[in-house]
Amino acid sequence: MTKDSQQRAAGAAAALLVENDTIVGLGTGATASYFILALVERVKTEGLRIKAIPTSKRSDQLAEAGGIELTSFAKTRRVDLTVDGADQIQRGTLHLVKGLGGALLREKIVAAASDRLVIIAESAKLVDRLGGPIPVPVEVVRFGWETTAARLAAFGCEPKLRWPKDGNEPLVTELGNYILDCAFPPILDPAKLEQDLSHTVGVVESGLFIGMADMAIVGTSKGVETLTLKTG
Ligand code: A5P
Repeated sequence: MTKDSQQRAAGAAAALLVENDTIVGLGTGATASYFILALVERVKTEGLRIKAIPTSKRSDQLAEAGGIELTSFAKTRRVDLTVDGADQIQRGTLHLVKGLGGALLREKIVAAASDRLVIIAESAKLVDRLGGPIPVPVEVVRFGWETTAARLAAFGCEPKLRWPKDGNEPLVTELGNYILDCAFPPILDPAKLEQDLSHTVGVVESGLFIGMADMAIVGTSKGVETLTLKTG
């Protein structure tokens, strides 16, 4: 199975977990888009009744175009189930690196409000240690970002300000901040690092999601594999 078909299979499997009359958090990225499209299909063919809270404008548009009813935190404080992608999933703990798609802050707010967080991904995202080749995205306030970057570097990373593919200005997130992509060597204690990053002046949120995921649905060459905290 190609990466794309693994992502599609994981998204389709996660869509089957969604129940009637629930509030669903919609993740961001290629894999989450497959989940949204599979949900759209269920809404159209089965009349599935849900309301959704998207984690980005992209997911918002995809859901709305497909006829999924949207809601917001102005109307509800909680989400039953959120399904989202990830950039790395640690085997055993289901700790995550997220945010290469730039939506980590909305993603973390929606995940934190959710009763359950299910992560969908292709098998290459499963790792024994977070970090290494994949940087940890850290969303920072624009003012004084250079000083925030210097404080983050003291934790042993190389922070790089994110730029859009085309453009003369640094990338600004949907919530108005910059992202510093922080390349760490393999991370031995992700929970401690997440605490250190979140206590750094100028940091809004980090892309380390610790103890938030309840389940991972991973597309593999042999089909879809479900990991929980017990099976890892
Ligand atoms: C978006 O900000 C990210 O957290 C994505 O969920 C993550 O990058 C996974 O995206 P893909 O499914 O496109 O790999």
